[in-house]
Amino acid sequence: MSGREGGMVMEEEVMVNRKVVLKHHLPPDRMPKESDMELVATDTVRLRVPSGSTAVLVKNLYLSCDPYMRSRMTKHDEPSYVPDFVPGTPISSHGVGKVLDSGHPDFKVGDYVWGMTGWEEYSLITSTEHLIKINHTDVPLSYYIGILGMPGLTAYAGFYEICSPKKGEYVFISAASGAVGQLVGQFAKLMGCYVVGSAGSDEKVNLLKNKLGFHEAFNYKKEPDLNKALKRCFPEGIDIYFENVGGAMLDAVLANMRLNGRIAVCGMISQYNLGKHDGVHNLLALIAKCIRMQGFLVSNYYKCYREFEEKVVQYMKEGKIVYIEDIAEGLENAPSALTGLFAGRNVGKQLIVVARE
Ligand SMILES: NC(=O)c1ccc[n+]([C@@H]2O[C@H](COP(=O)([O-])OP(=O)(O)OC[C@H]3O[C@@H](n4cnc5c(N)ncnc54)[C@H](OP(=O)(O)O)[C@@H]3O)[C@@H](O)[C@H]2O)c1
Repeated sequence: MSGREGGMVMEEEVMVNRKVVLKHHLPPDRMPKESDMELVATDTVRLRVPSGSTAVLVKNLYLSCDPYMRSRMTKHDEPSYVPDFVPGTPISSHGVGKVLDSGHPDFKVGDYVWGMTGWEEYSLITSTEHLIKINHTDVPLSYYIGILGMPGLTAYAGFYEICSPKKGEYVFISAASGAVGQLVGQFAKLMGCYVVGSAGSDEKVNLLKNKLGFHEAFNYKKEPDLNKALKRCFPEGIDIYFENVGGAMLDAVLANMRLNGRIAVCGMISQYNLGKHDGVHNLLALIAKCIRMQGFLVSNYYKCYREFEEKVVQYMKEGKIVYIEDIAEGLENAPSALTGLFAGRNVGKQLIVVARE
């Protein structure tokens, strides 16, 4: 294919663009399966932005798997806070990419960027409002969908803004070895808190205690009584609960909170594949113990992004914070990586490598 620009005939490269599409909407009451998605290798893409547009064409390098994507696989009658996926089109998620062409003054060819993109090799990004140029290319670029991206900002806003932490407080984090939880624990440790995490395997518990610096951790799948497990770890009760899972864990935590405790409701992954959500029985504790329980969305905190990025890069360079990633190689392995989140197969931040450069 060729085009005329400035009097010169330019070759316009057209490439095969492999993509992972959602085959159909899922009912709300079951786990996602790999067979709900498929790899399509027949489409092509022109590696130029349409002339006159402010779009950015990226080569996708790393793609993210996040629990909230499950909700997007179901069709909602009432619009959700994120739009439903459209069957037959690529799944979308945060990603890191390299700019191949740009009609936008803020993004140049060769820049690395992160933001919402498609599960495909190349994406034409027309909505650039939340596309962010990567400033630090001396850290792994994949970190921009983990510790330096949306999950990192979630941990930062959720802990420092919602939890109002103080030195010496008792902090509990569920799904503690995951993309968000591992960072919350390290922030709490840096603040001088006593930090305990729960996770779903002995391998994860070991990482929490020996790599991520948690004071204590337990495998919730092996605990016959969550209330007793929490009493064992927190004989004096919990000041701050960073909620990632919901369900039975939330009830057990409510029974172990201290006076003036705070619960940051980040997520409730145990409920994401249920048609009818579990009830919560111990809410009375909120009154007697004067507990503040507050939900939040990371999308309301992008104004703090650069402040957060600089602080966390600094912590990383000083060796004060580490980050564990679980890397799936190739778009063809993306469906299994995404479904793995709901079975707890990921150890650390789950991401997909599409290309390394
Ligand atoms: N509010 C926001 O803006 C915001 C932004 C980002 C993320 N989130 C939420 O934050 C939470 C953590 O997200 P993440 O990206 O860090 O995910 P993640 O922890 O890296 O991965 C999900 C983990 O959840 C655990 N899990 C899965 N099913 C479970 C169940 N039925 N009961 C208990 N645990 C279960 C598994 O770990 P185990 O092996 O430990 O079970 C799994 O590895 C999610 O609830 C997510 O929706 C919220």
